[in-house]
Amino acid sequence: MKTLLYIKSSPRTDRSHSHTAAKAFLSVYQQKNPQDKIVTIALFAQSLPEFDNFAAESKYAIMHGREKTAEQVKKWTQIEKIIEQFKSADKYLISTPMWNFGIPYKLKHYIDIIVQPGYTFSAEHGSYKGLAGGKPLCIIYARGGSYDDNSPMDFQKKYLDLIFGFIGFTDIKTIICQPTLADEKTSADAQSAAVEAARKTADFF
Ligand SMILES: Cc1cc2nc3c(=O)[nH]c(=O)nc-3n(C[C@H](O)[C@H](O)[C@H](O)COP(=O)(O)O)c2cc1C
Repeated sequence: MKTLLYIKSSPRTDRSHSHTAAKAFLSVYQQKNPQDKIVTIALFAQSLPEFDNFAAESKYAIMHGREKTAEQVKKWTQIEKIIEQFKSADKYLISTPMWNFGIPYKLKHYIDIIVQPGYTFSAEHGSYKGLAGGKPLCIIYARGGSYDDNSPMDFQKKYLDLIFGFIGFTDIKTIICQPTLADEKTSADAQSAAVEAARKTADFF
């Protein structure tokens, strides 16, 4: 039995384009892999520990080989639990809207928690190595407008490719639903194409 971790980062429900495509993905995936477990993290429906002074100082303590204080250890235990949950999955699905040309703050918060030295990347002799990769990841993007891969305004896909590449993911499938804020037909066509792409990707995931 494998575990697929689904990270949902739109606060919207049925009207979310990214989540609609993700639901199609999960439905096909579950049919094809009935023995697998799907764990969902709905980022706007649960709270994450603040990445506050104690968390940041813990991160520096790890990087500089210093002992953590008792308060830092307490905070770090919460951070570690989320990293462990992330790392224990075998496959990953992320759905995300474009917000202000980037990603929603809750997804950034989650990334700030899971990207940690000694856990998801290592930094030795001045070079970085991803420690969380070697597993499939599919990212579903929704955007009100349309952006091609070279658009200077895209800090959404470019950033997620960069950060998940940094922690070791090399097998990243991409599904883009755009433009979702166009006229009704264009938006509906974009949604259908994204659902179809999601189904096809899930078939061999
Ligand atoms: C706070 C906010 C910021 C947004 N910023 C952008 C943006 O920078 N570029 C864009 O094309 N669409 C933007 N949109 C539109 C969303 O990307 C679009 O509606 C998308 O379908 C949302 O994903 P969802 O349907 O899964 O919630 C924004 C929407 C919101 C609510």
